Amino acid sequence: MNEHDSEKVAGVLLARGYRQVEFAEQANVVLYNTCSIREKAAQKVFSRLGEYRLTQRDGQTIGVLGCVAQQEGQKIFTRAPWVSLVCGSASYRKLPELLAQLEAGNRRVTGLDTDTDETFETEVTRRDNPWRAYLTIIEGCDKACSYCVVPFTRGPERSRTSASILEEVRQLAGVGYTEVQLLGQTVNSYADPSAKKMRFSELLVAVAELPGIRRVRFTTSHPRDFGKDIVEAIEAVPAICEHVHLPVQSGSTKVLRGMARTYTREEYLEKIAMLRASKREISLTTDLIVGFPGETEKDFEETLSLLDVAQYDGAFCFKYSPRPNTPSLKMEDAIPEEEKSRRLAMLLEKQREIQRARNEKLVGRELEVMVEGKSKKEFQWSGHTSGNKVMNFTSRAQESLGDYVQVKVVAATPNSLVGEKRQWRVTSGE
Ligand code: 5AD
Ligand code: SF4
Repeated sequence: MNEHDSEKVAGVLLARGYRQVEFAEQANVVLYNTCSIREKAAQKVFSRLGEYRLTQRDGQTIGVLGCVAQQEGQKIFTRAPWVSLVCGSASYRKLPELLAQLEAGNRRVTGLDTDTDETFETEVTRRDNPWRAYLTIIEGCDKACSYCVVPFTRGPERSRTSASILEEVRQLAGVGYTEVQLLGQTVNSYADPSAKKMRFSELLVAVAELPGIRRVRFTTSHPRDFGKDIVEAIEAVPAICEHVHLPVQSGSTKVLRGMARTYTREEYLEKIAMLRASKREISLTTDLIVGFPGETEKDFEETLSLLDVAQYDGAFCFKYSPRPNTPSLKMEDAIPEEEKSRRLAMLLEKQREIQRARNEKLVGRELEVMVEGKSKKEFQWSGHTSGNKVMNFTSRAQESLGDYVQVKVVAATPNSLVGEKRQWRVTSGE
């Protein structure tokens, strides 16, 4: 989502006549997009800003965007007086105006409101990924997970109208994109603000049925709003990819309650059972946090056992990181850092083995892959399956990037599949 925000911001600049340069030192304007989801990401910001200062040219504008901008606000000007713009993501629609103020000679400008009901739409979006076009359908977050900065930094949920989303996808198809990924912190909480009142699952189908669209992905889904209608949409329309990212965060109902995730372990497992019962084989990935305040050894074991039941195809695992302005900051029973590291290592190890076994089960199967890359090694190509698995494959044909090909899986590792494209031998007609 952050990467896509950068693409939209680059579009705002291009629309104002700016052009992109290769290195920050060459630029008249540097806009630095930041993340504060965990402390490590946020820590980097001031050291990077220090580096920008060393190479700052006369008249070069340096701006800070994103969640650290929102979180630190005006304080950034005090800690880094060489910065002249601070703008959080909920105020990006004001960026053209803020840039105009800077061009007019204003020294310091800010966009820090989050009490907005607007979304950030641009005339131009400079897309970096030639194969997969990202587009935001819902911004902000109305959930209130106790560890998370997003509701504070990105503001309340705002959905775009279905008409504007469909129009953007039509344009993307028009310029040759066949795969789109719908984005939102809680993408399946999408609520069409127009009279059409399209449900998320209806929007998925409508996007997937637009001419030229071969693959539709969506992320991130919140378990609370994940209903059977989404599984039915995936079953009914092949262009909707067979992959769901459904963060669980913990396998312990007690910890989930502390996190304010609004579901129990059992309720989450019911969603998984619904996905696994689907006619299509849907890949499932998740996010997990270890070392949340008060997480006992028993709670952690429940997370480990949930992995056995859920059989995820991938998991992003994090150590709990206390964040400013979040309710869990004040919670007691902090877990020592070494213990968090121990739990994280155990979790990663277990998940690795699950992934290895799951991927090995695919050996012998033929899967559709979009050709996205050519390796330096001859005849080696790579791409993603509909289930979002990375496939490295051999093909003696001169593949065209962006094409879809059928590839037979011949080997597997925990994080990727190894395949061979079947060779079509042209035989003389007999
Ligand atoms: N500490 C650790 N991980 C976090 N995440 C969000 N906030 C925190 C935090 N304070 C993780 C969650 C979320 C993912 C994007 O980042 O797992 O799903
Ligand atoms: Fe953060 Fe929870 Fe919203 Fe996800 S659903 S962005 S974890 S508050």
